[in-house]
Amino acid sequence: MKYAPAILVGLLTLTSAALAGTPPPPTPELMAKGQQSYQANCTVCHGDQGRGDGPAAVALDPAPRNFWRDTFKKGDCLPQIFDTLTAGIEGSSMPGWSSLSDEERWGLVYAVKAYEVAGHNSKCDPQP
Ligand code: HEC
Repeated sequence: MKYAPAILVGLLTLTSAALAGTPPPPTPELMAKGQQSYQANCTVCHGDQGRGDGPAAVALDPAPRNFWRDTFKKGDCLPQIFDTLTAGIEGSSMPGWSSLSDEERWGLVYAVKAYEVAGHNSKCDPQP
């Protein structure tokens, strides 16, 4: 049993990498990182304020989500948004973002949630 602790740590690491797990705290650094990534990766479809009105939006069916007022198909709890960002949405132009680090995707989750909260549209996890 000499190696058991190492194996256990390995298993735990694998598990936490595969699942959304517990959201990290929304520190100012993480929020800033998320906002920066949002402006770089998401505005072309979702618009610079998350209202679903980016320059590419008119051409898309289904339309990109307006985070201020639309219902989230895949759920709007923080881990659900994280999973949507990882996998994308099949049958739509919403891409998966698994190439971004977990940290950056959590930052993006908080950027999306901030627009939802501003629009009084949040059904779950009403922070930040
Ligand atoms: C190429 C266009 C495009 C880009 C770029 C894009 N999205 Fe989307 N997104 C969509 C579309 C279209 C939908 C709606 C899909 C549907 O209704 O099935 C969507 C839906 C969503 C949803 C709603 C999920 C739900 O459960 O309804 C979230 C959250 C989201 N996008 C976040 C992001 C974030 C964050 C980024 C940037 C990292 C991003 N999207 C980049 C097109 C895009």
